[in-house]
Amino acid sequence: MAGGITQSEYWNGEVGTRWAHNQAVLDALFVPLTEALFDRAGLNLGATVLDIGCGSGATTVEAARRVGAAGRVTGADISAPLLAVAQARVGREAPGAAPVTFVEADVEQADLGTFDAALSRFGVMFFPDSLRAFANIRRMLRPAGQLTFLCWRALPENLWVQVPREAVMPLLSEVPPPPAPDTPGPFRFADADGLGALLRNAGFGTVSCAALDRDVILGRGDTDAEAAAAAAHVALNLGPTSHLVREAEPDLRARAEAAVTEALIRHASGGAVRLRAACWLVQAG
Ligand SMILES: C[S@@+](CC[C@H](N)C(=O)[O-])C[C@H]1O[C@@H](n2cnc3c(N)ncnc32)[C@H](O)[C@@H]1O
Repeated sequence: MAGGITQSEYWNGEVGTRWAHNQAVLDALFVPLTEALFDRAGLNLGATVLDIGCGSGATTVEAARRVGAAGRVTGADISAPLLAVAQARVGREAPGAAPVTFVEADVEQADLGTFDAALSRFGVMFFPDSLRAFANIRRMLRPAGQLTFLCWRALPENLWVQVPREAVMPLLSEVPPPPAPDTPGPFRFADADGLGALLRNAGFGTVSCAALDRDVILGRGDTDAEAAAAAAHVALNLGPTSHLVREAEPDLRARAEAAVTEALIRHASGGAVRLRAACWLVQAG
């Protein structure tokens, strides 16, 4: 549940629509992390691949390019608005890429076939029952198949979230309660030991969690001031800070936008706001 609603309601509601409209911004934000994900996944030519929580499909299409025409790639997600963006990519794949199929499916329980590899860019932290979901993913992998995914480390290590968050918090009348343990959310798998135990309990024999730190570009502009304003817009509309002001009155929103812009301009240079993103790059087989 996210704020008392199901994950399906969450990703099919206003959040999913907002992500869908800003697909290009999000894909650009995640570029350095995506490269590391694919380097680690090491997809073989001709492989069959499942992209879990594929969203608008950027990683699905990239997987298809990497495995080539003899492969096959399935992107699965529960969000209709994001899958509509993904579907629009079909038929526009790179020459020589594998055929891509997008399916609306809950990966916690769906049987989507058998795959040589599974991957996910931040799409595995939202299952109500993670143990059941990872066991289901293990079942869909061939015996030698590998699951490779990115998830976030703790919030304070993720300066791209922490810096805007610290600027917003003093403006709020109430401090939002921390999420309950083991509930869906971006920072759920910050504890690598717990995540490793979960994956082993789900049936994975080998698990590695490597820390991955990369600067991400939160906003660009012709000037540093423009870059900071663009970055504040991303932070307050798309990133994990956005829920703090999602239902705020226009006055509070405007003050939050000003405070976050001021905080982010300190991290701007050469027309870009760069801040550290801290992930676990996980592989389990
Ligand atoms: C943070 S977004 C990441 C989207 C995409 N991988 C990307 O990097 O742009 C998380 C995604 O997981 C999807 N998701 C959440 N629970 C799911 C489930 N049970 N089965 C399939 N997808 C799910 C959401 O709909 C959303 O698209």
